[in-house]
Amino acid sequence: MSVKALLCAVLFSLCGTFVQAEPAPTPEGLEFCTVCHGNQLKGNSNIAAPRLSGLDADYLARQLKAFRQGMRGAHPDDENGSLMRPMSSLLSEADIAQVVKWITATESPVPAPSITGDSEHGRQLFQSCAACHGANAMGNVQLGAPSLVALNDWYVVNQLQHFRDGLRGEQASDTYGQMMVAASKVLSSNQDINDVVAYINTLK
Ligand code: HEC
Ligand code: HEC
Repeated sequence: MSVKALLCAVLFSLCGTFVQAEPAPTPEGLEFCTVCHGNQLKGNSNIAAPRLSGLDADYLARQLKAFRQGMRGAHPDDENGSLMRPMSSLLSEADIAQVVKWITATESPVPAPSITGDSEHGRQLFQSCAACHGANAMGNVQLGAPSLVALNDWYVVNQLQHFRDGLRGEQASDTYGQMMVAASKVLSSNQDINDVVAYINTLK
C-alpha cells in the first residue's frame, strides 16, 4: 500500500477526492444497464443510450420513475424511449435508490463532440437556456434542470427534437417536461438545435 493510500485509509474524510476515484461497484443484478449505456455508463451512440455519469441524483431518480410511470418513453413514435421504458419497470423503489448511488459514483470521460454548428449563433440562443441550466450548462438542481455538459451531444439533439415534436414532456402531469416543451420553442429549426449544441460543446 502506498503512503498516500495508507493515509487515506486513516484520514478518509480528508482524502475524499482520492477515495472517490475508486470505481463504484456495479450493483448485483444491474449489470445489464451497461449493455446499452456502455462501460462506465459513458453512453453508446449505436443504441442512442446516453452517458449517465455526471447527472445529479434527483434528476436520475425522477427520470427512472417517469419511464416507469409511462410519463416518458410511452409515445408510440419514441423509439429510443421505448428501449428504456421496459428496463425501468424492472426496478423497485429500492433498486432506484441503489442505481442512482451507483451512477453518481461512477466516473467516465466527458463525451467527445460529434455535432457541428455555428457556435456563435448557438451562444445567442443559449441565453434563454442559461436561466435554468446555468451559464456554464452545469444544471440547476433546485429547478430540476440537468447538466447538459455531462451528456453526449447527439443525445441532446435527440431530446430537443423530442420535446419540440411532442414525443417527450407531452403529458400535462409532466411538470418538468412541460417546462422544456415551452423552452424548446426558442429553437425554430434543426439548424438552431445543432447551433446551440455546438455552443454547449464549447463549455465542456
Ligand atoms: C436496451 C437498452 C437499455 C438498457 C438495458 C438500459 N437503458 Fe437506460 N436508456 C436507453 C436509451 C435508448 C435511453 C434514451 C431514451 C430517450 O432517448 O429518451 C435511456 C435513457 C436512460 C435514462 C435517462 C437519461 C437522461 O439523461 O434523461 C436513465 C436515467 C437510464 N436510461 C438509466 C438506465 C439504468 C439505470 C439502466 C439499468 C437498470 C438502464 N438505463 C438500462 C437504453 C437502455
Ligand atoms: C424554464 C427552465 C428551462 C429552460 C429555459 C430550459 N430548460 Fe432544458 N430542462 C429543464 C428541465 C426542468 C429539464 C428536465 C425535464 C425532465 O425532468 O424531464 C430540462 C431538460 C433538458 C434536456 C434533457 C436532458 C436529458 O438528460 O435528457 C435538454 C437536452 C435540455 N433541457 C436543453 C435545453 C436547452 C438547449 C435550452 C435552451 C433552448 C433549455 N433546455 C431551456 C428546464 C429548462
